Amino acid sequence: MIKAAAYSWIGRDLPPIFRDGREYFLVGTGTGLFLVENRCPHRGGSLKFGFVDAEDRIVCPLHNGAFPIAALLARSTTIKLTEEQTYEL
Ligand code: FES
Repeated sequence: MIKAAAYSWIGRDLPPIFRDGREYFLVGTGTGLFLVENRCPHRGGSLKFGFVDAEDRIVCPLHNGAFPIAALLARSTTIKLTEEQTYEL
């Protein structure tokens, strides 16, 4: 599992990012930049419009569910960006 460091952030002001038929959003952590599927594990809410709480969880704006960033990074759909991919965004 990829461990997230404290002080993660969400690229909520960026335009939508689509890849392989999924919508992603950018998450920055102490371990790098990641594209995380913009779909809440609860009922599919847009995590991109949530916020990062003091426990390094993303709080979903739909029902206020809080999901550890480390668990979101461990999803099979999460993409860790390389330096070259970062320039393409
Ligand atoms: S859809 Fe995200 S907490 Fe319900």
